[in-house]
Amino acid sequence: MKKMKVLITGGNGFLGKELRMQFQKNNYDVIATGLGKDRISYHNHIYLELDIQSPSKCLEVLQKHQPSIIINAAALTDVDRCQLNQSECLSINCDSLNNFIPYSIENRIHFIQISTDFVFNGKKGEYKENDFCDPVNYYGFSKLEAENKIIKSGVDYAIIRTSLLYNLTGNNFLTRFIKKIKENVELKIVDDQYRTPTYIFDLVSAILIIVKLKKNGIYHISSGESLSIFDIVCNFVKNMDSNTSLIKNISTKDLSQKAIRPINSSLLIDKAKKDFNFTPMNLNDVINRFL
Ligand SMILES: NC(=O)c1ccc[n+]([C@@H]2O[C@H](COP(=O)([O-])OP(=O)(O)OC[C@H]3O[C@@H](n4cnc5c(N)ncnc54)[C@H](OP(=O)(O)O)[C@@H]3O)[C@@H](O)[C@H]2O)c1
Repeated sequence: MKKMKVLITGGNGFLGKELRMQFQKNNYDVIATGLGKDRISYHNHIYLELDIQSPSKCLEVLQKHQPSIIINAAALTDVDRCQLNQSECLSINCDSLNNFIPYSIENRIHFIQISTDFVFNGKKGEYKENDFCDPVNYYGFSKLEAENKIIKSGVDYAIIRTSLLYNLTGNNFLTRFIKKIKENVELKIVDDQYRTPTYIFDLVSAILIIVKLKKNGIYHISSGESLSIFDIVCNFVKNMDSNTSLIKNISTKDLSQKAIRPINSSLLIDKAKKDFNFTPMNLNDVINRFL
């Protein structure tokens, strides 16, 4: 049987790398694209340098490789940088979609957009897919603009909103904190911002299912377990026999970040549970299984 061809953007990113390897493992014909040189040393698929802001390069790649699925995992994800460089942020996170959507409509491509809990203002928490979006920072605004562009376009889409992705390896918020603790650096971590952390393999599994079942619409994919960022990090550090005394709690108002963060952007995942029996691991499952 002919393999399905999937084009993955942001292939050097934390999620993009995992998507490449898991789609390859699941017998897809993977075309990975990313900024600069390939950052995975060993794999069995094509990697191409591609800035998603370039209309001509994007069209060239699409016409040459003719994917039937596109997963857009490329984004400017540094929330404070987005706040300070708003035109760059909008260009990458939203305007670049113009280089994929018309081609996707014309060629009946299933377009998968990775989005974020930061489309919500965080005043309520426990957000459902159809709750009102009202981002409090420019990153969230750019991702919401992207969602709206996709929905209005008529492309066959799935928008997957996820939240605080982590793994025990790779470059993510958790490994960055743990590295600092191992270097005996004192950390100040907010204790009044709540997130639903997402184990990266749960997200990738959900994306595999959404692609396989050709699902459309918006899905929230996370653990569904709402915790403060402080508690998330402490839980891991405690179970790694590292020194939790190096972790100090701090409140949002004392952190003075460039961009405002939503206080409680936790995502409810009932729709994914109901539609395809999504059963993610919570934090303790991951700790018990891997630490
Ligand atoms: N990580 C999270 O906790 C989280 C939470 C909610 C939603 N998300 C969403 O999940 C998706 C993946 O995020 P991630 O955690 O994997 O972030 P990431 O590690 O920053 O990956 C994003 C990738 O996009 C690439 N990129 C930036 N500008 C580009 C451009 N013009 N052309 C092509 N590629 C470009 C980056 O390249 P460089 O590596 O060279 O910078 C990076 O490799 C994003 O859509 C993000 O909004 C992530």
